[in-house]
Amino acid sequence: MKALQVSNVTKSYDKDPVLRGVSFSLETGERAALMGPSGSGKSTLLNCIGGIDRPDEGEIVIQGQSLKGLDETELCHMRRVMVSTVFQFFHLLPTLSAAENIEFPLQLSGMSDSDRRSLLPELIKEVGLSHRSHAMPHELSGGEMQRVAIARALAIRPKLILADEPTGNLDSTTGEVILDLLEAVSERHGIAMLVVTHSPGVTRICSRTLEMRDGVLVEQSELAV
Ligand SMILES: Nc1ncnc2c1ncn2[C@@H]1O[C@H](COP(=O)(O)OP(=O)(O)OP(=O)(O)O)[C@@H](O)[C@H]1O
Ligand SMILES: [Mg+2]
Repeated sequence: MKALQVSNVTKSYDKDPVLRGVSFSLETGERAALMGPSGSGKSTLLNCIGGIDRPDEGEIVIQGQSLKGLDETELCHMRRVMVSTVFQFFHLLPTLSAAENIEFPLQLSGMSDSDRRSLLPELIKEVGLSHRSHAMPHELSGGEMQRVAIARALAIRPKLILADEPTGNLDSTTGEVILDLLEAVSERHGIAMLVVTHSPGVTRICSRTLEMRDGVLVEQSELAV
């Protein structure tokens, strides 16, 4: 089963279409970089896949589950159990500790207290934050905040992680470490990743590069010929 299948997705806001018939798929555990100029529709595509926004036409299927026809409640449930997003500015809840931020999606997904208590230390350890688990977000470095966000993304054991400029707010050394971590968790758990980036360095953890051109998605290998 494919982790993600996007078929002929179109999306307009007010005037010209932002996405014009976008189609591609990701196999289990496959990582692709999504590049293209500012305003070309990368975040819009990510939002449609993550169920935050809806395409006008076309279909998105995640792990065999089509998003088409889901009502708001069903879409919200799908977001909580099937797909996680990692953001440039981390999006941690400022009043919760590192550990509580990681635990939050597990509470939303309805996991029992005892299951959460056993899973949480494992997640914190996986991203190398055991010594900082009680820290508040404002006490953490950018790299540490992104580790929290990655652990939080992993908490629901998704088969697909979407990342929007995950290293965009980090210095280059920390960015490299975070890329290594994303690659490691993807390999370990067979998680497919779609990584939006302006940074060509991100392609080192990806087997494919997709480029958005005027609302159409083009494989980099096709651009070269
Ligand atoms: N909610 C919205 N309402 C109206 N227009 C929007 C909305 N979201 C995005 N757009 C428009 O859609 C186009 C694509 O925006 P999008 O954020 O997807 O670009 P992007 O490729 O992610 O750019 P960047 O690299 O700067 O992040 C832009 O023209 C933007 O102004
Ligand atoms: Mg964007």
